[in-house]
Amino acid sequence: MKKIEAIIKPFKLDDVREALSDIGITGMTVTEVRGFGRQKGHTELYRGAEYMVDFLPKVKMEIVVPDDLLEQCLDAIVDTAQTGKIGDGKIFVYEVERVIRIRTGEENEDAI
Ligand SMILES: Nc1ncnc2c1ncn2[C@@H]1O[C@H](COP(=O)(O)OP(=O)(O)OP(=O)(O)O)[C@@H](O)[C@H]1O
Ligand SMILES: [Mg+2]
Repeated sequence: MKKIEAIIKPFKLDDVREALSDIGITGMTVTEVRGFGRQKGHTELYRGAEYMVDFLPKVKMEIVVPDDLLEQCLDAIVDTAQTGKIGDGKIFVYEVERVIRIRTGEENEDAI
């Protein structure tokens, strides 16, 4: 199992969620975050306004997926979240050791 952590532009969240649902992803965690990439200190557009601050609003999506769905999910996120402009975001992939569904005690791929 892998955990995908995707930092994306907030207005792309609904499209990405829908693309992942289409693949069969049934759960995810979403957090409003702030961050910056390599244009630190430069301006970036957000909702039509230019920001000169270091930290810009982003959305962090965390999705734990079975190994065989990983590449499909990554492709879907990139295809959907990409505008081609700076600040489109970044994806980090981690190994997941164990998953437990609290209600039933099911584990790992049965519990995702
Ligand atoms: N190395 C990193 N570690 C953790 N978070 C990061 C890192 N790089 C980017 N982020 C997060 O991703 C968000 C978007 O990054 P961004 O897309 O601007 O990356 P970039 O490398 O500057 O690429 P681009 O040139 O396309 O803007 C940042 O606001 C930050 O929240
Ligand atoms: Mg950037």
